[in-house]
Amino acid sequence: MAGFSRSPTELLCDDVSLSALAVAEGTPLYVYSAATIRDRFRALDRAFGDYPHAVHYALKANSTLALARLLREQGSAADANSIWEIDLALKAGFAPGAIVFTGVGKSPAELARAVPLGLKAINVESAGELARIEALASAAGRVARVAIRVNPDIDAKSHPHISTGLKINKFGVPLDEARALFATFRGRPALRLVALHVHVGSQITTTEPIAKAAALMAALVGELRALGITLEYVDLGGGLGISYEGQPVPTPDDYAAALLSAVRPLGLPIVIEPGRSVVGPAGALITRVIDVKPRTADSEFAVLDAGMTELMRPALYGAYHAIEPLTIRAGAERFYELVGPICESTDVVGRDRWLSPLEVGDALAIRDAGAYGSAMANNYNRHPLPAEVLVDNGAWRVIRRRQTIDDMTTMETL
Ligand code: LLP
Repeated sequence: MAGFSRSPTELLCDDVSLSALAVAEGTPLYVYSAATIRDRFRALDRAFGDYPHAVHYALKANSTLALARLLREQGSAADANSIWEIDLALKAGFAPGAIVFTGVGKSPAELARAVPLGLKAINVESAGELARIEALASAAGRVARVAIRVNPDIDAKSHPHISTGLKINKFGVPLDEARALFATFRGRPALRLVALHVHVGSQITTTEPIAKAAALMAALVGELRALGITLEYVDLGGGLGISYEGQPVPTPDDYAAALLSAVRPLGLPIVIEPGRSVVGPAGALITRVIDVKPRTADSEFAVLDAGMTELMRPALYGAYHAIEPLTIRAGAERFYELVGPICESTDVVGRDRWLSPLEVGDALAIRDAGAYGSAMANNYNRHPLPAEVLVDNGAWRVIRRRQTIDDMTTMETL
């Protein structure tokens, strides 16, 4: 069975025993289901039917090379948020023309490298950035392909830390300023405005904000046409949420319908930049219990070998991830605070969880960790970056070995 499923005795990934993987590769360990990534990518891609569209997987969600390559092989293009994600995309085999370059702050060095690459577009975040791109393109005798990222002042109704579409957020060009910029393109031969871009936030669980943003973009495309500017496409960003707690979320079909109802009358091709919805449910972080100790009269701490260094989301956003033992011990469920080993009180991976009894050495899966898990892992407390395994077609392979202390210190001097 594709993805994570339970046999009578244990949790499996694409029918491979996670307990066996944990023994073979140690913990903490990220495990991904290739079948799930493919299925989720295809479902999203198919939802747009024959309407002209391109799916640019948002590498920021997880840019481990093998996963980037897997998605490229499925026909995905890429959304990169830094010159280093562009480097990664190129290493994974994406052509420059299949990469869009987003990001609220692109340094002079990043722009100097990006402009001559011939990317599909650089998504521009301000009038100043547009002028810097223009100067670089002009000096190189090139025409830079740009998209204006519009800040639509729309509430994504997601977690405030991952909402990007309000005027108070740092992202994009406010509407009135964007309109003023459009009018300047006629006299700027080193720039070609190929698209408009919008992204209102991440982990969006209703289609309403996405549909609203798409409708606004459609109206702007109309205004541009009136100015005699014809775009190649409109980039509607990412943001489709996943069900971390079993709550209903829009299906790929709901999502596509919401976007297409706004843009179909234009007939203009669209780009989407999904990250989480493609890889989130395809990954789990496998961890072991390293200590159990009393907490309150009716609860215990289970200290895990993975914490905020391996998976930052709970500590950073209070995010919920389902957590389950790989094998269920007999006995009544107990009440646990699942914490990491990091020297921070905020290092709690799962609050107030009823679970089958846990003992030191037991392995657990932290679910839905495929997006913004490994990608945000760090070396605090000198925790090595965890190993990563891809399960594909009944076989598995290490796609990133565990970092060592030598890897970590190789850039340092005594
Ligand atoms: N496009 C742009 C311009 C973005 O800023 C993002 C995400 C995406 C696409 C992909 O969004 P997705 O489809 O994955 O929602 N670390 C946070 C999420 C930060 C999202 C940043 N931007 C988390 O763990 O929830």
